[in-house]
Parts: sequence; C-alpha cells; structure tokens
Amino acid sequence: MVTFVTTNPGKVHEAQEYLDTPVEQLDFDYLEPQADSLAAVAAHGAREAYRHADEPVFVDDSGLTVDALGGFPGPYSAYVEDRVGVERVSRLAREETDRSAAFRCVVAYCDGTGFAATPEPVDRERRGQDQAADERAGATTDEQVHEGNDGSGAALSVKLFEGVVPGTVVEPRGEGGFGYDPIFEHAGQTFAEMDTEEKNAVSHRGRALAKFAEWYASVDR
Ligand code: IMP
Repeated sequence: MVTFVTTNPGKVHEAQEYLDTPVEQLDFDYLEPQADSLAAVAAHGAREAYRHADEPVFVDDSGLTVDALGGFPGPYSAYVEDRVGVERVSRLAREETDRSAAFRCVVAYCDGTGFAATPEPVDRERRGQDQAADERAGATTDEQVHEGNDGSGAALSVKLFEGVVPGTVVEPRGEGGFGYDPIFEHAGQTFAEMDTEEKNAVSHRGRALAKFAEWYASVDR
C-alpha cells in the first residue's frame, strides 16, 4: 500500500491504474514553497507529507511551461490560471515566434529511507522526447535524488519522476478537459479536443506515474 497525498480524488483514481499496489488517498493540503521548479515544490511536498503521515507517501506537482517565456507559468500555473486566466496566457505566448510549450508533472516519493540513484533511465522509450523537451525548457531531469534536511539534522531523501509532453500554445479550442487544456496542442489536437482516454495515453501525469510505478514495482521493501 502507498499513500497519495492530494486533495484530488480523481488523481488517486488515475494513479491506481498505473500502480499494482493499492493507492490510498490522504487529503492533506501541505504548504507549497515559492520555488522556480516543479521538482523543488514536489520534493518539499513529499517531505512535508511524509512527516505528517509517517508512512510511505507520494505527491505530484504539475504545470505548463512556455519556452519563450522562460518556463512561465511553470510552478505558478494554478495561481496564474486563477488570477490571469488561460486565454491571457495564450495571448502572451502567441506574441512570440516560438510557441513551444510542455506540460510537466513531477511525482515525488518519500518513505524515510535513502535511495540509490537509478543508473538506467526508467522510461527508455520516451527518454529522447522527454530530454528534448527538458533541454528546451532548461528543466530538471527525472530520477534525481534530492537530499533535504528535516530539521532534526538527518537527511530525508525524495525520489523524483518527471513526465513531460511537448506541444504548442494555440488559441483556445475544444470543450473537454480542464485548466490549460484548451490552449495546449499536441499532435494536432488540443488536450480539450481529446477524450479522457486519448489524453491519459500521452499526458505528463501518466508518463510520470508510469515511471514511478515501474520503479516502485522493481524495488525491494
Ligand atoms: P496541480 O499540479 O494539479 O495542482 O495543477 C497545477 C496547475 O496546472 C493548475 O492550474 C492546473 O489547472 C494545471 N494543470 C495540471 N495538469 C493539467 C492538465 O493536464 N491540463 C490542464 N491543466 C493542467
């Protein structure tokens, strides 16, 4: 059993489709730090969540990064969606010649033990695509081990898994989905024009969860 610390039951349902072990939801709204990377936010969240739950936990953090805007809105995606709105983000991005963007999701796992760095990429098939998108946005790569201080002098390790889906910012199209879906085009369709199955098959969250599930199934505990 592993605990997904999130306020969103839909995400728990999606995670269960990837993991062989039962996934329990813990509805705990940890404080997110102001940081310029999703990885830093997720790693902090995983440590907070682990201290709160005192059992193996994972959290996720996701957002849209627009290359020409230095990765904006990135970790501020929820705040910007709320205060500015996705149409205005679309207009801002469409003023640029290069409208490349990516949806990113970082899953962060913490169980109070240390982790060896993964020598092989967890997801070889998608590695090239992810790397290209990572390089464009200058983002953190996946499978890192972040050491953090839990205040007691002991380091608390977090294992990170990043899923990236590259695309382009367009004028809003489509009725489905949520958030930035209508302004994000991937392979000719916006995420809001795809049905749930189509979107889940390519989504950043699915890619991060698949990597996490593969690693989780492979480690002895
Ligand atoms: P969270 O990681 O679920 O808190 O999402 C952070 C922000 O990114 C929110 O503004 C979401 O609307 C947006 N976001 C995350 N995933 C997606 C997605 O799959 N489609 C559209 N927007 C997303």
